[in-house]
Amino acid sequence: MAKKEKINRIGVFTSGGDAPGMNAAVRAVVRTANHYGTAVSGIMRGYDGMIKGDFVNLVSKDVSGIIQRGGTILQSARSKEFMTKEGREKAYNNLVENGIEAVVAIGGDGTFTGATILNKEFGMPIIGVPGTIDNDLFGSDATIGYDTAMNTVIEAVDKIKDTAGSHNRLFFIEVMGRDAGCIALNTGIAVGAEEILIPETVTYMDDLILTLKHNKRKGKNTGIIIVAEGDDAGGAYEVAAKVKKLDSSYSTRVTVLGHTQRGGSPTLADRVLASQLGFHAVESLYKGHNNVMVGIVNGKLELTPLEQAIKNSVDINRDLLRLARILSI
Ligand code: F6P
Repeated sequence: MAKKEKINRIGVFTSGGDAPGMNAAVRAVVRTANHYGTAVSGIMRGYDGMIKGDFVNLVSKDVSGIIQRGGTILQSARSKEFMTKEGREKAYNNLVENGIEAVVAIGGDGTFTGATILNKEFGMPIIGVPGTIDNDLFGSDATIGYDTAMNTVIEAVDKIKDTAGSHNRLFFIEVMGRDAGCIALNTGIAVGAEEILIPETVTYMDDLILTLKHNKRKGKNTGIIIVAEGDDAGGAYEVAAKVKKLDSSYSTRVTVLGHTQRGGSPTLADRVLASQLGFHAVESLYKGHNNVMVGIVNGKLELTPLEQAIKNSVDINRDLLRLARILSI
């Protein structure tokens, strides 16, 4: 870790699935860098814009009025070309030609995988900022966007509960999370779901039917089943069909919340987290850190090597899982 006396210009980009709070992080990066006399280039559409040389100069006033906005002013993309050596060479040459000496990458596992390669192949100093609604990165208690996404889910499910109860229906609600059940587990607890199906545990349809029958015996004919999109039993439509096949007495309905979870104004928690992480990312570069992700663990700033942040996949909170089972009875 070599301390750099002066960084003249840094690049910042958002990549992968957007997440509410990314704008707050971009704002924090620009303002912290400007505070220390470092210029900032915004790289449009992640690695795609890096390859095409689509850069914009950003100063403090350019990031005014964006802290409360969802999405990302820098836009985002998943770049196929960056997966090739030629693509990465173009990207690196563009960074150098534009005087960019270090990069702040805001995104999730795909973003960090690209960042580690860029760092290894060309030695470009990179700091990662965890920005994804999935909360599936090791090295931060929460990722930017996770809190907002969960609040969006509970707002929608509370509404569905009203109609589910009026019609004695069983609702299967699909939330995002291809590989991670964090959103499903926490929102399931928050809405008082009857069952929560997540990718980290095996779903046995017979057990699900037993739970539903047990509820029915107690006079509960309505219910909310939260299904993470990556559950091994399938998405919400598939699980609902399986239930119907095993017991046709249920009146079932399905709601897929989809990309509503990725939009909207970030919550207070996400705005503060994004501001802290954007700030720490820039300060970490000045301190000479490289190829690490900034995160907050138990209220304290932590730095985790990017490779570990991606690979040390976060295990689901087993205590919360147990609590969910006990409280849903
Ligand atoms: O990684 C964030 C995420 O929203 C996942 O939860 C979801 O599975 C995926 O992105 C959807 O990706 P896309 O927007 O490319 O369809």
